[in-house]
Amino acid sequence: MVDRNGWERGRSVPTGSPREPPEAFVEQANVTDEGIYEAFDEEWPNCWERAADLLSWDRSYGTVLEDDEPPHYRWFTGGRLNAAYNCIDRHLEAGRKTHAAIRWEGKQGERETYTYRDLYVAVNEFAAALRDLGVGEDDVVTLYLPMIPELPIAMLACARIGAPHSVVFAGLSADALATRMDAADSEYLVTCDGYYRRGDAFNQKSKVDNARLALEHDVETVVVDRLGDELPHVLGDDEWDYHDLREEFAGEEVEPVSRDAEDMLFLMYTSGTTGEPKGVVHTTGGYLAHVAWTSNAVLDVEAEDTYWCAADIGWITGHSYIVYGPLALGTTTVMYEGTPDYPDRDRLWEIVDRNAVDVFYTAPTAVRAFMKWGEEYPERHDLSSLRLLGSVGEPINPRAWEWYYEHIGDERCPIVDTWWQTETGAIMVSTLPGVDGMKPGVAGPGLPGIDVQVVDDDGDPVAPGQTGYLTVDRPWPGMARTLYDGDDRFRSEYWEQFSDPDGDDWTYFSGDAASIDEDGYVTVLGRVDDVINVSGRRLSTMEIEGAVTDADGVAEAAVVGRSSETAGTEIYAYVSTENDCDPDEDVRRAIEDAVESTIGEIAVPAEIVFTPELPKTRSGKILRRLLEDVANGEELGDTSALRNPEIVGEIQSESGAVD
Ligand code: WT7
Repeated sequence: MVDRNGWERGRSVPTGSPREPPEAFVEQANVTDEGIYEAFDEEWPNCWERAADLLSWDRSYGTVLEDDEPPHYRWFTGGRLNAAYNCIDRHLEAGRKTHAAIRWEGKQGERETYTYRDLYVAVNEFAAALRDLGVGEDDVVTLYLPMIPELPIAMLACARIGAPHSVVFAGLSADALATRMDAADSEYLVTCDGYYRRGDAFNQKSKVDNARLALEHDVETVVVDRLGDELPHVLGDDEWDYHDLREEFAGEEVEPVSRDAEDMLFLMYTSGTTGEPKGVVHTTGGYLAHVAWTSNAVLDVEAEDTYWCAADIGWITGHSYIVYGPLALGTTTVMYEGTPDYPDRDRLWEIVDRNAVDVFYTAPTAVRAFMKWGEEYPERHDLSSLRLLGSVGEPINPRAWEWYYEHIGDERCPIVDTWWQTETGAIMVSTLPGVDGMKPGVAGPGLPGIDVQVVDDDGDPVAPGQTGYLTVDRPWPGMARTLYDGDDRFRSEYWEQFSDPDGDDWTYFSGDAASIDEDGYVTVLGRVDDVINVSGRRLSTMEIEGAVTDADGVAEAAVVGRSSETAGTEIYAYVSTENDCDPDEDVRRAIEDAVESTIGEIAVPAEIVFTPELPKTRSGKILRRLLEDVANGEELGDTSALRNPEIVGEIQSESGAVD
């Protein structure tokens, strides 16, 4: 099944009793009832009505959960609603039109505030424009935009007319964009001329032009002019200027399309265990209910808050916790275009200070960077508005946790370490900050109603303290319904490993290893499949290997993750070159270029190790496990079964020492 067992590498399971949440926080928390876990269990699945109650339904649902076709569960069936209506219109009706919906902080210091009324106007006008371009209900619209307000506007405009969006992270390559548009049969694209990257104007439109050349079908393309004169561009056939369209449809209103709870809200491509990205399908009712409920119960968001999730909307974190969750609750969501160290390393704290941010949610990789830079940067600012801190995307090591708690949260703010995935749609494992004690480095228990189990190879729960596979036993509202590529792949990727279909027993497998302690708290140890998580971004080793071997001169490649407590995971590529090719700087650069152009800069290896041969079994299979051990400085087991054991010592000396 899963042929890896090196999960504990670079990670140890923290122990100790929970630290109580600060009292001042508990006094005001949204959820403080310790009985909530039991109540959810007793009422399950109807407990999830509490989440559905946070939404406004055009027609109320008949059944909470229909489970007659596992693993394709259906939630809130018969119900109808519109996500954009829930994120905008109903807040206007509640008299909150001047309340800030989005506070945008641009890379160069620009600032824009969209009130709920402003957002309503923008979304309606753009929805009208999309319709005019031909977008109909259920047509997939691809959004390839950086962190500018037009991205959530376009998402909500799609939601308003019932067109699923498929957001492709702006940093991905032209190839990656074309592959995703092709897989989704997407004939509509919203993008921009360019954006600032490390202070320079970066041309996004030229990537789009390349992607369009690779596509067989026509694509109606809307271009947002982000850079003005700094990057002049010419509109070609089937290309439209976003601002012109807004003007053309100024003042138009579009009736929100009433969608079935089970209609698709969006598609999100993510890396899987093969080279092909997976199109994860999320629906309207269950997803929105789950993100709204967790924004309220875990992130403690209230309508009057200023809330900031410092992630990119190009990944699921931003979909759920920059856009849909916070806007469904009518709060103010901060959106930041830049990086944490530009113009200086106090940029994020300056934004927290000036906006009086109440809740701040980020990834451990960022916390590790803050820690490295030192406490002098947060100390320059008043962070006393903060009430709660969150962590997401990868395990947070206890030292980084403590630093975050002390230097950002001033020991006043609880930290929620939230485990979830693109496929789960919303948070699954976390402490409830007003109820549960915290353990640094340990995510927490499964949320109320979420049946998380850590199991062994046979699917039996492991004893406390043992490691196993992180699985989920009962369905949940935000879960992916299927993969766009087909139901078969959905079953084989997530459900085959631990389910017993004949016994009608269905278990979701996350792809993560974990351990669970006496208190039911889960420590997530990392992926056990061919997915690596680099700075909270999910990449497929096979996809990277494919790109590396495309480079001129490369014969074979194996890509592994190298993990350490301080740096998280980095990409190591072991490469052998063709006979007549010297492994020199040119090959190195060709490899970097190949990865950047097929996937994107985020997948470029931190280290490329050249070796005359890769270690192989007698049957010729590359032994990645062994390379992973080498990269991580682990003790190597018996290598005598290798066809070429002599190569291992050579690779070890090339790989260098591990911290
Ligand atoms: C993978 C999912 C969840 C949104 C961002 C990533 C890892 C996520 C945690 C956490 C340890 C975590 C897992 C998971 N992960 N949160 N709190 N502690 N690991 O979404 O790109 O679908 O990646 O991120 O390995 O499987 P994604």
